[in-house]
Amino acid sequence: MKWPADRITKSSPKSFGMYEKAVALIAQGKDLIHLEVGRPCFDTPLHIKEATKQALDDGIVHYGEFPGELKLREALAEKLKRYNKVDFSPDEIIVTNGLTHAGYSVCMASLDEGDEVILLDPYYPQHVNKIELAGGRVVLAPLDKEKGFRIDAESIQEKITNKTRMIALVNPSNPTGRVFSAEELTSLANLVIKNDLLVMADEVYEQILFDGKKHISIASLPGMAERTFSMYAFTKGYAMDGWRLGYIAARQQYIEALLKITMNDVAHVNVFAQEGAYAAITGSQQVVADMVAEDCRKRDLVHRYLNAMKGVRCPLAEGTIYAFPEIRGTGKSSACLANEILEETGVVVEAGSFYGKVGEGHLRICFGAESYAKIETAMQRMTDYFNTKI
Ligand SMILES: Cc1ncc(COP(=O)(O)O)c(C=O)c1O
Repeated sequence: MKWPADRITKSSPKSFGMYEKAVALIAQGKDLIHLEVGRPCFDTPLHIKEATKQALDDGIVHYGEFPGELKLREALAEKLKRYNKVDFSPDEIIVTNGLTHAGYSVCMASLDEGDEVILLDPYYPQHVNKIELAGGRVVLAPLDKEKGFRIDAESIQEKITNKTRMIALVNPSNPTGRVFSAEELTSLANLVIKNDLLVMADEVYEQILFDGKKHISIASLPGMAERTFSMYAFTKGYAMDGWRLGYIAARQQYIEALLKITMNDVAHVNVFAQEGAYAAITGSQQVVADMVAEDCRKRDLVHRYLNAMKGVRCPLAEGTIYAFPEIRGTGKSSACLANEILEETGVVVEAGSFYGKVGEGHLRICFGAESYAKIETAMQRMTDYFNTKI
């Protein structure tokens, strides 16, 4: 019997980077500090939990609407208008199981065998399998490393062929921590329109912004709402990563095809969890601001420590929960350095090469995943290692 299907064997092997190495050490009982996993360290705000518990008590436990509960989609349409400056009706929104499911549904509905999708390198690795499982091929276009990972429209244009169907944009960017400017996004939008492409816009970090930075949704630029799948989630901003809640906003002409995927893979998202999502989106946003303020404090801490380490140069992250320090001055590859840091200090950080060729020469350090005190311990351990071994 043939097993598994070709789409599984033909797609890239799944990889969890340094986490896989850490698992072996955890099994040996080692005390590790995890700065490789991109998850919030906060608990989900209480009013969101309370609304969900209430929903269970109220018997909201049966089948719901395929695209998501109407009142939630209405609230999301309001949020999109107010915050993202895009007009989508509730019928142009589909509630998904996190951003992962949104991205998978977009790929499945958009791509034919051999269609090419451009990822901006350094890229978010988990997008690769979604594209490949849908029959697509990943093509990497470099961000401009020397200019702080700016979008370089010319380098992207060079990668466009008659098979290019879509560009995946992660903004704010994981792993670089950049928030793309209006000028960069406009240059990308012009290229998308000129070449008649689609955009899969992953805006999962839209709320995690520092120093007054503004997030611009590419769909809000002229002519782009017609070409963009805007994807969001409750995952990061509301510390709801385990809840698996996200959504796609796209023009009406795309919705039926997207629903054909979501109705078949999950039918719809858990109804009582959607009550929590409704409480999150309609409640006070102060809870988000408080978490972002603490993330900012941790960003500053990590930035201060990293820049004092020999051979390390770390720009300030503009958003997200990641520092992406340049480590070329250490004379070591990113994988070698990440391995040594793990072995010598028990701190797990990710090698920049995990995010593509352009990511080499960097580490990715998640400052959102642990408490301030634990991050400080990790930075002290790394400082000791740098002082003695670099
Ligand atoms: C850029 C990016 N997209 C998507 C995800 C996954 O989001 P979700 O947990 O909502 O599926 C992550 C999680 O780390 C991410 O960093």
